[in-house]
Amino acid sequence: MSCSSRPPARLGVLVSGGGTNLQALLDAADADPRFGGEVVVVGADRADAGGLGRAKERGIATVVRQLSDHPDRATWEARLRADLEAHQVEVVVLAGFMRILSGAFLAGWPDRVVNTHPSLLPAFRGAHAVRDALAYGVRVTGCTVHLVDEQVDHGPIIAQQAVEIRPDDDEDALHERIKRVEHTLLPACVKLLCHDRLEVVGRAVRIREESS
Ligand code: GRF
Repeated sequence: MSCSSRPPARLGVLVSGGGTNLQALLDAADADPRFGGEVVVVGADRADAGGLGRAKERGIATVVRQLSDHPDRATWEARLRADLEAHQVEVVVLAGFMRILSGAFLAGWPDRVVNTHPSLLPAFRGAHAVRDALAYGVRVTGCTVHLVDEQVDHGPIIAQQAVEIRPDDDEDALHERIKRVEHTLLPACVKLLCHDRLEVVGRAVRIREESS
């Protein structure tokens, strides 16, 4: 099937913070008629996530699922999954979503949940990747866009891009430069996923040629 003959893939984006990566995705989809995906719902685990406002401005549906509002983690996750399923989401994008998702959630979208992480994995996994890279004293860090598996910041890598660390960098300055790179890399990887151009072979991701 040619890319242009199928309807845009339905994207569900999960955020916890300001949502600049969500914004980059929305802007990329607007700017590129061949993007192949459309954000149909934005979910957050916090009511104050800035990304929710960005979605509302565009008239995109939003859901808030706070862990503390649920009796346990499994219930929270099952409801979040049901929220996305209610919007017939085909690809899930974790754009600064600071919660771990289990196999029960991921089973809904095999090899179709993508995350962006602010380091060159497998270095500096976890919630403080930028701080940890600075503390370690590495000269180069960057960002990684990867498919999500059951381990934290671990799944098959789609793309990575390096960012040099400057002598006067602090966490905020470095994270800002990493985010600027994420804002291009994440939409590019989501576009590949929307066009079904990723093939997972073991830990490796192969990018198929574009069909004409
Ligand atoms: C990004 O750097 C992402 O890699 C990390 O959190 C940040 C989210 O930024 N997990 P934003 O909310 O998209 O602005």
